[in-house]
Amino acid sequence: MSLKCYFLIGYQMANGQLSRAEALACSGCRHACHVMLYSDTKSQLFGRIPIRHIILMQMRFDGMLGFPGGFVNQSQESLEAGLCRELEEEVGVALSISEDDHMDAQHAPGTSPSSPRLITHFYVKKLEEEQIREVEKASVSTATDHGQEVLGMVRVPLYTTKGGGGLSSFLSHTFIGNARSQLVNSLLRLHLVAPEDLRKALKHSLKMHARSAVDVQAVLELTEAEREQS
Ligand code: APR
Ligand code: MG
Repeated sequence: MSLKCYFLIGYQMANGQLSRAEALACSGCRHACHVMLYSDTKSQLFGRIPIRHIILMQMRFDGMLGFPGGFVNQSQESLEAGLCRELEEEVGVALSISEDDHMDAQHAPGTSPSSPRLITHFYVKKLEEEQIREVEKASVSTATDHGQEVLGMVRVPLYTTKGGGGLSSFLSHTFIGNARSQLVNSLLRLHLVAPEDLRKALKHSLKMHARSAVDVQAVLELTEAEREQS
């Protein structure tokens, strides 16, 4: 068994997650597959802040951030074939994703008792920077879902600016399902961000979140005051 397998099994047991095989053994479950596409980069923001890695996420139709992918038709296709079909629709390119790219699976939170249980599978695929740029171009040109189910691809800022922005602000947005923890776990597991930097970003993210709540409250009060006047 490879080192990666030992590491993965240990991680999955510690987090109550399912292996690909365990997930597929669930009869009556629906499956959705999403992937984190990423590359290394030597480019710098403002010519001085190393960007280090390009990680792609998307702004979804529901206004939440998530990874590309979607529901798999299990009677007609394998998990990976379903994911590749979803990628063609959402990012407009044919990418080969294999079982080796499968990172984890887990029961989706908040599934209603009357609907079939949803298992979300998460894959990670490293590309060359040039391929990532091609994906970004295709996502606005050839992807059929652009402007509908997908409002746009976004890169995840991994740096922290002097004002504390960057990763912390990004993490304070709203994510679909467990996409935020999938992102954070991947940053740690793939050593894309140092654990201490990630911890600081998350702590700052909490503060930003609280500030956002105050901001939303202020806008709501303003809107209500205007409505009463009109
Ligand atoms: N973690 C957990 N759950 C997720 C994640 C994630 N990272 N990303 C998406 N989901 C959930 C979504 O809430 C959804 O229920 O997985 C399910 C399928 O993912 P989508 O990417 O939304 O599916 P897709 O096939 O691309 O979209 C088709 O799904 O959400 C509906 O009606 C909507 O028309 C849309 C349809
Ligand atoms: Mg989708």
